[in-house]
Amino acid sequence: MKKVMVVFGTRPEAIKMCPVIIELKKVKSINTIVTVTGQHREMLNQVLEIFGVTPDYDLEIMENGQTLFDITEKVMGGMRSILKKEMPDLVMVHGDTTTSFAAALSAFYMNIKIAHVEAGLRTYDTTSPYPEEFNRHAVGIIADYNFAPTERAKQNLINEGRKEDTIWVTGNTVIDALKTTVQKDYVHPELEWCKGYRLVLITAHRRENLGEPMRDIFKGIKRVLDEHDDVRAIYPVHLNPKVKKISKEVFGNDKRIHLIEPLDVIEFHNLMNAAYIILTDSGGIQEEAPSLGKPVLVLRAITERPEGVEAGTVKLIGTREEQVYRDFKLLLDDEKEYQKMSKAINPYGDGHASERIAKIVLDYFKY
Ligand code: UD1
Ligand code: UDP
Repeated sequence: MKKVMVVFGTRPEAIKMCPVIIELKKVKSINTIVTVTGQHREMLNQVLEIFGVTPDYDLEIMENGQTLFDITEKVMGGMRSILKKEMPDLVMVHGDTTTSFAAALSAFYMNIKIAHVEAGLRTYDTTSPYPEEFNRHAVGIIADYNFAPTERAKQNLINEGRKEDTIWVTGNTVIDALKTTVQKDYVHPELEWCKGYRLVLITAHRRENLGEPMRDIFKGIKRVLDEHDDVRAIYPVHLNPKVKKISKEVFGNDKRIHLIEPLDVIEFHNLMNAAYIILTDSGGIQEEAPSLGKPVLVLRAITERPEGVEAGTVKLIGTREEQVYRDFKLLLDDEKEYQKMSKAINPYGDGHASERIAKIVLDYFKY
């Protein structure tokens, strides 16, 4: 029996890999092994619980204030012994985290084949997002199977010299997840608090934004909130202590914003669905919001996900206080601008990406 080891460690990887694991586990001729690195802890466990996925291995690497060295060293050390013991036929990683990079490199050092889910996203600027742009390039160099979410992602890989017969356009598995989470008539205490107000949903965590850029972003947002009586904001704060500190300092006394713990994925997707505007530096949220028809202001200067920008639902506004203030205010005050940005589109697939990936893996093992 062929053995596939799926490896991931953070919240977004879990949201996008659990649907793949569920599909792989339906294939009886494949033994699917789940290894989590625990690069995230609480935020990872939230997702595993929702999808009912129990890891076979957990490297439990997370520590407060972990550096890129810590993550890389611990993942490689842990993967070395697990791979030696299990010797899978294929290691499957996702996207661009340091978990994905270090796990793929470990497989490469042991001559084990690598599959890359969400392959081919690019900004071609290694400073943004940092270090993710490097991570996904590096995995791309050694991956044997590339599951690209869009035609553009496939084209990026071809332009870089990857062979066409190693690339499949599958759609993004995040849309598979979204199909199972959004509910009609969803109720939540935070939504009660926002009843009768326009709800703004906020997230921020990017490493390159930590410090002054993040403080600037929050100051710009706060100025707009202070000028609009009919708006309330919900901000599930990332557990990174640096993010917690800055958000508390800027928003701590503001009555229009609730700083809350990270929401589980069902809660978060349903709050997105109820939101008027989303402000974020997240990657995954840029993929989810367009299919819900929600305008997203992206707190970054550049994105590896241009499809939403081209479709008009996503706008890059950078991290400067004045720009954040102006663009956020415009979207609240200008109905025409709002209508332009609030059309539901589906650049990231039909919600069947995981089934496709499982089938491709199975077909490949047959030959
Ligand atoms: C990581 C990924 C990033 C991804 C993001 C998703 C890398 C280099 N970065 O960044 O690509 O977009 O996850 O959120 O791989 N923490 C907790 N509990 C948790 C999770 C985090 O306490 O469940 C705290 C810890 O103090 C940890 C810190 O957050 O040290 C930062 O976590 P880390 O994974 O290093 O960086 P992220 O910004 O989360
Ligand atoms: N998300 C969540 N709870 C939250 C905030 C976000 O479940 O409180 C989900 C969101 O729907 C998306 C993913 O987490 O699927 C995005 O994760 P994040 O922004 O941390 O990482 P990125 O996508 O930038 O790598």
